[in-house]
Amino acid sequence: MLANIKDRFPVFKKKPNLVFFDTAASALKVDSMINSITNCYSYDYANIHRGIYELSSKLTKKFEDSRISVSNFINSPSPENIIFTKSATEGINLVSNCLSKNYFEDDDEVLVSKLEHHANLVPWHLVSKKIKIVAANINNKGELDYKDLIEKINSKTKLIAITHMSNITGSITNFEEIKNKANKFNIPILIDGCQLVPHKKLDIKEMNPDFYVFSAHKLYGPSGLGILYMSDFWINKLSPYQGGGSMIKNVETDKSTYLEGYQKFEAGTPPIAEVIGLSSSIDFINEVGIESIYSYEKELTKYAYEKIKSNNDIKIYGDFKNQTSIISFNIDNVHFNDLAMFLDKKNIAIRTGHHCAQPFMKHFNISGNARMSVGIYNTKDDVDYFVNSLNELKNFLK
Ligand SMILES: Cc1ncc(COP(=O)(O)O)c(C=O)c1O
Repeated sequence: MLANIKDRFPVFKKKPNLVFFDTAASALKVDSMINSITNCYSYDYANIHRGIYELSSKLTKKFEDSRISVSNFINSPSPENIIFTKSATEGINLVSNCLSKNYFEDDDEVLVSKLEHHANLVPWHLVSKKIKIVAANINNKGELDYKDLIEKINSKTKLIAITHMSNITGSITNFEEIKNKANKFNIPILIDGCQLVPHKKLDIKEMNPDFYVFSAHKLYGPSGLGILYMSDFWINKLSPYQGGGSMIKNVETDKSTYLEGYQKFEAGTPPIAEVIGLSSSIDFINEVGIESIYSYEKELTKYAYEKIKSNNDIKIYGDFKNQTSIISFNIDNVHFNDLAMFLDKKNIAIRTGHHCAQPFMKHFNISGNARMSVGIYNTKDDVDYFVNSLNELKNFLK
């Protein structure tokens, strides 16, 4: 199945030589997802949840069926725990705002880590008048320092907000020990799964987080759509983040009452076509099989890791242990942006800079690095071409 996978990505028809190693930023788009969005706008479109005419009621059903697909994909207890937002970032902002209104008290602590994407830092800063933000360290390899994190959990900790997979090192967080200690103090956990969900099976029932976020655009799906899983307890406890149409029971000019359940968090016209498109990208991932994707990408990343690591003048950030899909590195005496420009001339797309993870970069006293990240369309030939190109640049600069 993976052998002809490039045929499913129209961009390769136009750019057959493209070597795309920036899937961690956003994945390329699969044909079935593009077609389903085109069909939605061309033939099926109407606003949902309101009209009693056929177009509207049919699209409402399709939209709600997509919620079921998402729920099944991550093995959520129910589709009613799935909230659609405009991005994973918005999902975390929703949680930080709601917790700030309904839960945090002065001097409560939120425990994050220096491995976090800014999307899991800045939303806490914005409500930090109330709370204190405590950050777990990373070690010299760039991995989460579990010992430090566990030690920082105490009776003042009112939320632990940690990435499931680092967007810099690709390392996957083991939540077992964290959960054990958190449970002792009854502390809720928010998990940022943006990087993990496209690459590895997520089982919400087994993990049982309080909040879990990810983005559709990293799943070969559309931009403009994020997914927030919220447990029943928090859905019942929290009041809405944004107000407007769709989320109300009754409105007067000076007051309103809201729907119960996930609907109270979805104000206004939602990203209708995007939600329907996401369902097609999930179908595509299910066809290929998330387990096959994981083993294929893990092997490919290992192949790339060994090749890159054999260069003494390249520093890799992170460890290959318990990692997939991402390798970030710097080459001695080569600025990462010069590298990216050189590779671009060779049709290789990588990401450089701080990758929205400035605390990580500060830890290593660097302003950024180069990141290659794989998706299901990448091959060993892509990796060979990439590594040869790195060598070419190094020889050129000698
Ligand atoms: C680990 C992680 N968290 C959060 C985000 C934010 O996702 P979005 O920009 O889709 O909201 C990203 C995006 O790169 C990410 O890699």
